[in-house]
Amino acid sequence: MAHEFKDISPNASAGAKVTNWFENRFPTAFDAYRVHMSEYYAPKNFNFWYIFGSLALLVLVIQIVTGIFLVMHYKPDAAKAFESVEYIMRDVPWGWLIRYIHSTGASAFFIVVYLHMFRGLLYGSYRKPRELVWIFGCAIFLALMAEAFMGYLLPWGQMSYWGAQVIVNLFAAIPFIGPDLALLIRGDYVVGDATLNRFFSFHVIAVPLVLLGLVVAHLLALHDVGSNNPDGVEIKGPSAPKDEKGHPLDGVPFHPYYTVHDILGVTVFLFLFSAVVFFAPEFGGYFLEYNNFIPADPLKTPAHIAPVWYFTPFYSMLRAITSEMMYVLIACVVLGAGFGVLKSKLPSVIKGAVVVVAAVAVALMLGIDAKFWGVVVMGGAVVILFALPWLDHSPVKSIRYRPDWHKYLYAVFVVNFVVLGYLGVKPPSPLFERISQVGTLFYFGFFLLMPWWSRLGTPKPVPDRVTFKPH
Ligand code: HEM
Repeated sequence: MAHEFKDISPNASAGAKVTNWFENRFPTAFDAYRVHMSEYYAPKNFNFWYIFGSLALLVLVIQIVTGIFLVMHYKPDAAKAFESVEYIMRDVPWGWLIRYIHSTGASAFFIVVYLHMFRGLLYGSYRKPRELVWIFGCAIFLALMAEAFMGYLLPWGQMSYWGAQVIVNLFAAIPFIGPDLALLIRGDYVVGDATLNRFFSFHVIAVPLVLLGLVVAHLLALHDVGSNNPDGVEIKGPSAPKDEKGHPLDGVPFHPYYTVHDILGVTVFLFLFSAVVFFAPEFGGYFLEYNNFIPADPLKTPAHIAPVWYFTPFYSMLRAITSEMMYVLIACVVLGAGFGVLKSKLPSVIKGAVVVVAAVAVALMLGIDAKFWGVVVMGGAVVILFALPWLDHSPVKSIRYRPDWHKYLYAVFVVNFVVLGYLGVKPPSPLFERISQVGTLFYFGFFLLMPWWSRLGTPKPVPDRVTFKPH
């Protein structure tokens, strides 16, 4: 549909005339600015936790820009990759800075995204009507993991090489198709030049395109339904108070209020980020592992192979699944099915199906190697996040109005996740194995039992309006 041409007074300023000229020729851009910035009403009561979405966007831009400059000097060739990174570090003007910003950016991305996801958990931001915002978020998280994993192979250091070898070999544990799948991913019988080339191609173009598309979908879906807030009170619903123009009384236009507000968060973030880039880019071996300063050597396996910190909670869950642990998992399946059949009010057809599925699952769990189930558990730990909107049955959204013990449970969940992360960096030991097994059970128990525990306890009264004190 053609847009109506907007007239402008001949006495208007030159700036206004130029703007008017563009608006009449590209109204979509101006509409988008209004819908997503100057007339996007966001709740007044955003707090600290609401900065991480903007920071994730900032880090995405930082990674793309520094990545473009790294590609100008990097060589995706097994014989030259390591040297080309050293060349960037030593000879390319400011190359060291670009590389350290990119490597620190990878860890910063995960710190920011983990905090961003935790905010969603705290305030029930994944619940109706924001299920799709959350699902796009989970898909972003998966894409981000793939992006980081493939990027880590590129410097072709010992950890790049052996980390990729270990992870790609995991796919080989899948029955029937596993070995062929691993071969297909590597493009060779071992991680080699073919693997480096395809990981480079995915890291530099394919996954970033997917990531960008998902981020756009994430934000468009969010702006269609409107942001949640720390009180979990809807500011745009039919019963929410509005002014005479229909704007929510509990909201403020994103621009200029939150654009200015976010500048503070961005400044603090850049302070911390620069401190790491300039003073501790390796961050004690957590952001850049020491072994990765040694060129890849297919004939020398490092004594201890550990992924970068952001993968280690999931890596711990993988290592926790030993053949002994399989008996515990089988007991869980039997208990779960027994409960479904004896205690629930499900129709008998469904109960029959539960028994059959459980019997098949137990047979498979006994028949297939624990290594495969480790891979299933590791993947399941991420996939289960997609189901969160349907697992939480609490009558209130925000943690503020939930029974106090829910807060303690969330605190234990966080400590457990951090402990799993710590154990994943350490070499395996019998004690650590036990702790990671308990941690894995807790992680899954938290989510799988959520439909039950999230209803328990008496919630506090939820206010009609958001709580906000002008400052
Ligand atoms: C590249 C990564 C990501 C970017 C750039 C991004 C960006 C954003 C932005 C700008 C917002 C609005 C501001 C805010 O509420 O903080 C937002 C909201 C949200 N994001 Fe993300 N996000 C990313 C990843 C994720 C992930 C991994 C999840 C969850 C798995 C997620 C879940 C959400 C939810 C539920 C909201 C709505 C929050 C609310 O209204 O309370 N996002 N995101």
